[in-house]
This record gives sequence, C-alpha cells and structure tokens, in this order.
Amino acid sequence: MSVENIKEAVKEKYGQAALRVIKRGTSCCGSVPAVEGCPDPITSNLYDGSQTSQIPEEALMASLGCGNPTALAELKPGETVLDLGSGGGIDVLLSAKRVGPSGKAYGLDMTDEMLALARENQRKAGVKNVEFLKGEIENIPLPDNSVDVIISNCVINLSADKDRVLREAFRVLKPGGRLAVSDIVVRGEVPAEIRRSVELWVGCMAGALEENEYLAKLARAGFEVVNMEPTRVYRVEDARELLSSQGIDVDAIAPWVDGKFMSAFVRAKKPSA
Ligand SMILES: C[S@@+](CC[C@H](N)C(=O)[O-])C[C@H]1O[C@@H](n2cnc3c(N)ncnc32)[C@H](O)[C@@H]1O
Repeated sequence: MSVENIKEAVKEKYGQAALRVIKRGTSCCGSVPAVEGCPDPITSNLYDGSQTSQIPEEALMASLGCGNPTALAELKPGETVLDLGSGGGIDVLLSAKRVGPSGKAYGLDMTDEMLALARENQRKAGVKNVEFLKGEIENIPLPDNSVDVIISNCVINLSADKDRVLREAFRVLKPGGRLAVSDIVVRGEVPAEIRRSVELWVGCMAGALEENEYLAKLARAGFEVVNMEPTRVYRVEDARELLSSQGIDVDAIAPWVDGKFMSAFVRAKKPSA
C-alpha cells in the first residue's frame, strides 16, 4: 500500500469507529477482536476507576489505545501537552485535568468523525483548557519549541512515515520536553508474512517497529534518554481465532508469534540546550 492509501484506510477505519460510538455503540476495536465483540486484549481495561470517573462515558467507549500514557507520563500543572492521534479524546481530557487551568492539552487527529466525537466529549466534560486540532502527525500544526510533553496512544504504529513523525515531535517539543508514548512494538525477528498476519490482528496499518529499531529512530531524530518498557505482552492464544480464520496453522507459527508482539511505553527527552 502507498503512503496515501494507508492514510485513507486509517481514516476510513477510525471514522467508522467514531460513528459507532456516536450511535451509542462501542468503538470495537482498535485491533480486530480475536473473538466477536469487545473487549479485546489490547484495548480493554487500560484505565482505572479514578480516571474513568473523570471523563464522559463516550470518551471511554471510544478508547482505542494500547496503553495509558497519561498514567505513566509525568505531567505538571501549567504544562502544555500534545496527544498525537487523539481519537475520541480520552487522553487529552485526562491530561487537561493533570496540567490544570494554567496548562493546556492539544489533541491532533486527521479523522473528521473522531474530531467531532472528541469535541463533543470535551463539551460533556466541561473542560476548557483543551483544543482539538485537525491535521496529520507527520505535519504537526504547531510552532517549533511550543510543547512540554507529547503523548500518543497506539497511533505511531499506524503511520507510514515514522521517522517524519518523530522528527516533527522533536521539532514542536521545547528544549527539555518529554515524549511519553504507548505503542505496539515487535521484539526480535519475525518472518514478514507472519508479522503481517499478526499486525492485522493488532490493527497496525503500516507495521509495528521492532523495539531496537524504534529506539534507534528516536535517537536519530535527536532524542536522548530513550527507553522502552513492555506494558502488555501478547500470547499466541490472543490471536488464535483470527489467524486460524485466515487458514494459518497457528501451532506451526506459534514460536514466531508467542510473546513477540507487545504494547510498550516509550519515553524520550529532547536535550535541554
Ligand atoms: C488507534 S486510534 C487511537 C486513538 C486514541 N489515541 C485512543 O487512545 O483512543 C488511532 C487514532 O489516530 C488517528 N490517526 C492515525 N494516523 C494518523 C495520522 N497520520 N495523523 C493524524 N491522526 C492519525 C486516527 O484517526 C485515530 O483517531
């Protein structure tokens, strides 16, 4: 698929997910569920009660992330936060509460239906220090050195130009600014065909990065103190139903799949000077 085709496929998929929530269904799901219906092992149970009680139900129902960057990121009152691929807005609304009225939380998304849902969720939450921007994470519509913290939840794996996303993130961060991102990554070598089948299950349109490749790309973009910690490691059983339905001999490929795909929390810092 070309870069443009990937973008159109992503917009189509997440536009439909947003419409399902607007029609009071669930977004079901960021990944293709292993069994019919939600919850799936990637997007479910990411937020605890202290967080879900702070946001409208629709924001939680639209949650399509694979981690909880706001719980893991250090956010201080007065800071400016940017969420790359903000979807229904869950992490933006939670960040806005953390940075308080003297801070600001931006959400950036390219899908109109998601932006409409996020703005409606902002209205329901009654949060003022939030702004949802339309645009692409490969061309962030914010000035250089303007953001303290960049978060993102299961979006960079969808991009066909990850180097550009990381360069843009670096550009808009202030010196000393932090990147705190949840994403799907692959551990070690996995044969291309098997990898593609699992990525279909996970929902990675453009492919997940191998963990060392991810860290190397961050360093090449200029980041320092880069590190990654797994938050959920997926077992072959999680994807058995989908893989079998594609005619794949799951037991034969199990050693290549089991424990190789994970949700991870990625941290990095833009140098201070
Ligand atoms: C898997 S959902 C995650 C949404 C949200 N972060 C969450 O945790 O619920 C991916 C979101 O990223 C957006 N997205 C994907 N690729 C993008 C891109 N290149 N530029 C801007 N938004 C993008 C999609 O429209 C969708 O809303």
